[in-house]
Amino acid sequence: MTNPVQKALTKPFDALTAAELESRNIFDCGELTLNEYLTNKMRNHHDKNIAKSYLYTENDKILGYYTLTPTVIELNPDLAKKLKLPKHSLPAMLLARLAIDKSCQGKGFGELLLAEAVIKSAAATKSVGGVGLVVDALHQNASNFYQKYGFAPSPTNPLWLFMPLPSS
Ligand SMILES: CC(C)(COP(=O)(O)OP(=O)(O)OC[C@H]1O[C@@H](n2cnc3c(N)ncnc32)[C@H](O)[C@@H]1OP(=O)(O)O)[C@@H](O)C(=O)NCCC(=O)NCCS
Repeated sequence: MTNPVQKALTKPFDALTAAELESRNIFDCGELTLNEYLTNKMRNHHDKNIAKSYLYTENDKILGYYTLTPTVIELNPDLAKKLKLPKHSLPAMLLARLAIDKSCQGKGFGELLLAEAVIKSAAATKSVGGVGLVVDALHQNASNFYQKYGFAPSPTNPLWLFMPLPSS
């Protein structure tokens, strides 16, 4: 994965300029739900502290984003044992969304934004607790992308993936 000391590529939703905000309407990652989240729900979630979104822009255009929020998980017993974690509910971070505009896919931006989301999650869990980062992938293709970076699929649901984060 990319060098963890890289400078942040993205900015939080509330730092977007008017022109960048306008470009929400032309963002297209090929997944309607992710396009619509950007235009219809991101602002409300960001403002109300439901989920925080970070966007990559270039020349006044949004080219990618990811969204993080805290969650509660239950690890399957084998994984809990392997990680020496309790079997009951545990705090974690959820990578709720990750999307790259079609014009930029396949150029390494997904990897860069994922690396940034992992670093940001690790910093958050170091401050407030949390055992890892989870993803609810939209489909098997997306699940394959996350697995490339060390996320492990649940044995009962291949679209639910987990990556432990450092505990200290
Ligand atoms: C999935 C997505 C975020 C990947 O971003 P991207 O910028 O296209 O990917 P990158 O260029 O950073 O690819 C990085 C690496 O992952 C690989 N990769 C990309 N998509 C992959 C996939 N679906 N399965 C397996 N590997 C994948 C690339 O081949 C590349 O590997 P390489 O460096 O060995 O060549 C992006 O394609 C996207 O937004 N898709 C539509 C929305 C979506 O499905 N989001 C995930 C929802 S949970």
